[in-house]
Amino acid sequence: MKRKRSSINDLDLDRWREYDDILTDSLWLIPERDRSGVHTADYHGNFVPQIPYQAMRRYTKAGEVVLDPFLGSGTTLIECRRLGRHGIGLELQPAVLKTTRERITAEQNPHNITTTALAADSTCVGPSGVKIRRALNTIGSDHAHLAILHPPYHSIIRFSDSPEDLSNCTTTEEFISRFGLVVDLVTQFLPPERYLVLVIGDIYEKGVWTPLGFQCMQQVMQRGFSLKSIVVKDMQGNRAKRNLERMWRYRSLAGGFYIFRHEYVMFFRRDPD
Ligand SMILES: C[S@@+](CC[C@H](N)C(=O)[O-])C[C@H]1O[C@@H](n2cnc3c(N)ncnc32)[C@H](O)[C@@H]1O
Repeated sequence: MKRKRSSINDLDLDRWREYDDILTDSLWLIPERDRSGVHTADYHGNFVPQIPYQAMRRYTKAGEVVLDPFLGSGTTLIECRRLGRHGIGLELQPAVLKTTRERITAEQNPHNITTTALAADSTCVGPSGVKIRRALNTIGSDHAHLAILHPPYHSIIRFSDSPEDLSNCTTTEEFISRFGLVVDLVTQFLPPERYLVLVIGDIYEKGVWTPLGFQCMQQVMQRGFSLKSIVVKDMQGNRAKRNLERMWRYRSLAGGFYIFRHEYVMFFRRDPD
């Protein structure tokens, strides 16, 4: 019997046994970052390329458009070049963007796709929406097919001094509400039944665990998305803690808490109209 082809990706379910590289469990243990091509770990706070890789393989076809409103060092757009997906990324910091653009264009572009890295504040729904619309016009599409959101985990890493930077929000409430604006921005460009992927971690501060991931999850779901999966991904290379293992172990035992070793990759599908 011929199996149905997916309308959301290029996987051929008749050949499902061959897709060893595609993860299907909700626990992702990724011991090694992909450092091939122009990928590096230089940008403090960037995600492993395996995350956008997995998301694009599952939720896009070749030639479709991926939107990333927290571009950082450009990991998503580099993966776009490799996988033949168009990519639009937004990054607040012009200085970061300069290096990011150089890195992205240094990656080969065998599928001849368009990657656009825009200087923009993703919480400015109107003006940033205009920039995304222009980039989509250049590609020849009126919408994106997948959104990948990797915001700051509030104040865990301060990315800049800019007040627009989500890592400088003074309270969790402000962070959550401004994150919601970014979801508003991407939702404009994401049709029903398309996917939004959120990569986020929680915070432990002053003796209290704040479930930032679940609070951000609520923001997405309040905007007409259904939760499809929560993946727990191991965090191996947290620079701040790498050389301080013993001290953190002591703190954990003394303070009655567990040391973060995970972050979340949450998958949502926009509800039908
Ligand atoms: C966790 S990093 C994303 C890293 C990225 N996934 C990568 O692999 O390089 C979050 C990024 O969001 C940027 N950012 C913070 N607030 C922003 C805003 N309001 N609009 C756009 N970008 C913002 C930060 O400068 C930082 O580069």
